[in-house]
Amino acid sequence: MAPKKVQICFLETCCTGGYMAAGQWKTDEDVSSTKDTLEYYTDLAKLAEKGKVSAIFFADWYGGFEIYGGSMDAMLQAGHQVAHLDPLPIVSAMAAVTKSVSFAVTMSTSYENPYVLARLYSTLDHLTKGRCAWNIVTSWSKCAANALGQENVIPHDERYDMADDFMDVTYKLWESSWAPDSAVWNKSTGVAFDASKIKKITHKGKYFSMAGRNQVHPSPQRTPVLFQAGTSKSGAAFAVKHAEALFLNTSTVAQAKKVIADARAAAAARGRDPKSIKFFPCIVPFIGRTEEEAKAKYEHAKKHADPVAGLGQFSGYTGIDMSQYPLDEPIDLSKANQAMAIQSVFRALEASESASGPWTPRRLGIKMALGGLHPSPVGSVQQVADVFEEWATEADCDGFNIASVTNPGSWKDTIDLLIPELQKRGMYWDDYEVPGGAFRENLYGAGQKGLRDDHYGSAFRWGMEIPEPEVVEEEKGSMPEPAVLPARATVAAHG
Ligand SMILES: Cc1cc2nc3c(=O)[nH]c(=O)nc-3n(C[C@H](O)[C@H](O)[C@H](O)COP(=O)(O)O)c2cc1C
Repeated sequence: MAPKKVQICFLETCCTGGYMAAGQWKTDEDVSSTKDTLEYYTDLAKLAEKGKVSAIFFADWYGGFEIYGGSMDAMLQAGHQVAHLDPLPIVSAMAAVTKSVSFAVTMSTSYENPYVLARLYSTLDHLTKGRCAWNIVTSWSKCAANALGQENVIPHDERYDMADDFMDVTYKLWESSWAPDSAVWNKSTGVAFDASKIKKITHKGKYFSMAGRNQVHPSPQRTPVLFQAGTSKSGAAFAVKHAEALFLNTSTVAQAKKVIADARAAAAARGRDPKSIKFFPCIVPFIGRTEEEAKAKYEHAKKHADPVAGLGQFSGYTGIDMSQYPLDEPIDLSKANQAMAIQSVFRALEASESASGPWTPRRLGIKMALGGLHPSPVGSVQQVADVFEEWATEADCDGFNIASVTNPGSWKDTIDLLIPELQKRGMYWDDYEVPGGAFRENLYGAGQKGLRDDHYGSAFRWGMEIPEPEVVEEEKGSMPEPAVLPARATVAAHG
């Protein structure tokens, strides 16, 4: 059987300093402290395109984390997940120096306005010639809520109900406000846009109401490629309805296999082709020409890792102040309140409670500082490629979101070492499916610029009767809670 082909995305944020690895900016070779320059991003885009990387995926959030020790001091001092630029203006510059690599930008349905967001992504889709995606998030942190003028985070499940309503507004604006043949530009008649083919959208939902046309005419993809990340019960129900691709933080093959199989089954139950949802678990590999070289890279990174910043990051993701626990005593977070948390962080923590015994804050801090709770194989290029192959065949993922520890060292190792090995194994394309094409074409195949017919959003196309909102309660029941699975020692859990 032909090996399964995978795609690779680079996982980034625009925070100046560390993102998935804390403390590496202190080394001479690391460029993370230049993440406030345009050159950093244009160089990264060119590098990604050289390796035929599918997309650069920008995680993003508001506020920063003030949980560890009750302040942001530890994160600021460590230069970790702070000094956080807005990715949107940056992406235009990256698109200008590339032709095929795509860009996924995160935005929150809990804080943005759907009309404004629709215009932003329509703009980005025009300027990138269809190379953009929206990573839909609902936001979890109280710090973000406070920064944006709210006293508290909207309750977990309600955020997803709100997101559902938000999506209907954006589909209406992207898919049905302008007819496909509304742009005329007829020099003899003097008609630019056929006004009879551009309609005003009205929406009266539980959370959002609006009346107006999409301010921007149809872009190559109309609706950007839709990514999503939450895997709680309501998050997963939202994902199988709206997402075309999922960014996973799963720490073991067994955990990912279950999440992916459940989501594909739920997608099929909705009438979607289960293979049409693409799964991209995050992975943070340490790759060497030999195993010894990889181990040396790992040890070098460990020497500079900042475990306190790692714990600060964990506190930010979970809302738990990790400074309150003794460093070397096992921690039990099973009773922790998860209402203001990225719930899958707990699942990843449980699934990776492994081989090396229960987590202590010290070990957790080091693990977080060296790539987080994601798999982080350390090995020769063949060994790391074996891990990728196992995830692709066993867990049935479609690609990987690779985060860097050393910057740009980890990206360069991916391009110079790993991708050629995956190509040799027939697991990676020699060129983009559609060079210069839209992101959706490179995910699904030539010609598929718009939403697939089996996607919920396609029912909003011009000329179709716009669907009534679905009853969200019923959907939630259709997805099982993500299971807590035993750990499997397929990937070295270091730290
Ligand atoms: C892998 C992963 C990546 C995420 N990335 C972001 C992000 O970049 N920005 C953000 O605001 N939220 C992010 N989230 C948070 C989710 O969008 C969601 O708001 C949160 O996880 C709560 O939903 P859940 O309980 O379904 O996970 C991420 C979640 C996961 C699991």
